[in-house]
Amino acid sequence: MATHSSISTFITRFASITSPSSLPCQRPCTHTAPSARPVALLLLPFHASSLHSDGSKEAHISRIALLLPLLKDTAQLEDIMDCLQEWPEPVVPVQSLSEAPTLPDRYVKPPSQRPSVGDAARSLDIPVVDLAMLPGGGGGVVEAVSEACRHWGFFQVVNHGVSLELVRRFREAWRGFFHLPMEEKKRYANSPRTYEGYGSRLGVDEGAILDWGDYYFLHFLPCYLKDHDKWPELPPCLREATDEYGVEVRKLCRRVMKALSLGLGLDADRLQKALGGDDEGVCIRVNFYPRCPRPDLALGLSPHSDPGGLTVLLADDHVHGLQVRKDGVWITVHPLPNAFIINVGDQIQVLSNAEYKSVEHRVVVHAKEERLSVAFFYNPRSDIPIGPVPELLAAPGRAALYRPMTFDDYRLFIRRRGPRGKSQVESFEAMAIPGT
Ligand code: OGA
Ligand code: NI
Repeated sequence: MATHSSISTFITRFASITSPSSLPCQRPCTHTAPSARPVALLLLPFHASSLHSDGSKEAHISRIALLLPLLKDTAQLEDIMDCLQEWPEPVVPVQSLSEAPTLPDRYVKPPSQRPSVGDAARSLDIPVVDLAMLPGGGGGVVEAVSEACRHWGFFQVVNHGVSLELVRRFREAWRGFFHLPMEEKKRYANSPRTYEGYGSRLGVDEGAILDWGDYYFLHFLPCYLKDHDKWPELPPCLREATDEYGVEVRKLCRRVMKALSLGLGLDADRLQKALGGDDEGVCIRVNFYPRCPRPDLALGLSPHSDPGGLTVLLADDHVHGLQVRKDGVWITVHPLPNAFIINVGDQIQVLSNAEYKSVEHRVVVHAKEERLSVAFFYNPRSDIPIGPVPELLAAPGRAALYRPMTFDDYRLFIRRRGPRGKSQVESFEAMAIPGT
């Protein structure tokens, strides 16, 4: 069992690595910067509001032990924190390998994980929902969103309200970034402490088989985590386009959240409230999948479910690559022109007590074509407990499938281990609370 001192060392060391410096707030934001409380609480909130009812530190530590089933011992918190300091091996941008005649061993997936395994018939595709009638919700749009989230966890949206000119400008800015000289991109090389910046791996397991993709990860909300200096300076229009895109897609997420809430029989704002109201978090990951000498042996992104609330994916307008697992079979998504792909993340699965499903997905790559996609992660406020919405447990026989947990706690594991199918949220499911 971990001692208090190991936990507090953990907190202190996190404090030293996560300082957000003085970040200007771009707009009114109710979620204040943590100047009045230790910065460490941003990542691992050992503070009163997350304590269990008896409020003791012991109770909190045992809560962490229960909630983090991937740990054999809570003392491993220290170990995780150490792992997240730096990458375990030098990071090689995939783009710098893409002209090689052979695929380096580090990217060769074991036979059971290769893209050809479990491929589906082409006829199936994820549902398409026309959002023109949101937020009013007429025309069956709530039912369509809700059905898609229950049965697929994925859907495409058309008439989503985000300016197509903005989407084009935003996408081209980021394509421009990935085509800059490597030296310019490396100025933003990231570390596993926060993942912000230009990176080429997820997870810090030494010797892991890697994915064939580079990315750029940034914080958009809360505003005290947003730092333009950590965003690319070039191309010149990138920061402005990303700001505008963030504002618009956030609005879209809020509309979709209403539909999700109504689809569960809740008040329109209930899920948003449970997620933290106006204090939600937003991160953006721009994925760049270079040409691959052996696409049959590699994956651009290993199977995973998204850890957060909702993901709005802007897929490449020319090249497919996303596959969704449906009934054990991998189905290739064929993005419609000007559509977004939306999927349920683990936190919405938890809030909805598994009425809505976060579904495994992965990315395949190509020999002749590179691919760019942008994942907009709409997340809960990171320091509040996220558990099944109580109203959903009112009916007899409805047991809570998950104990409340903060997104900060949850994310720590994802960051260490990288993509792991659905093992992370499923491991919490196994901990159904007895007697509820
Ligand atoms: C992700 C993701 C899919 C894609 O970034 O989490 O699933 O098509 N991306 O790049
Ligand atoms: Ni994903």
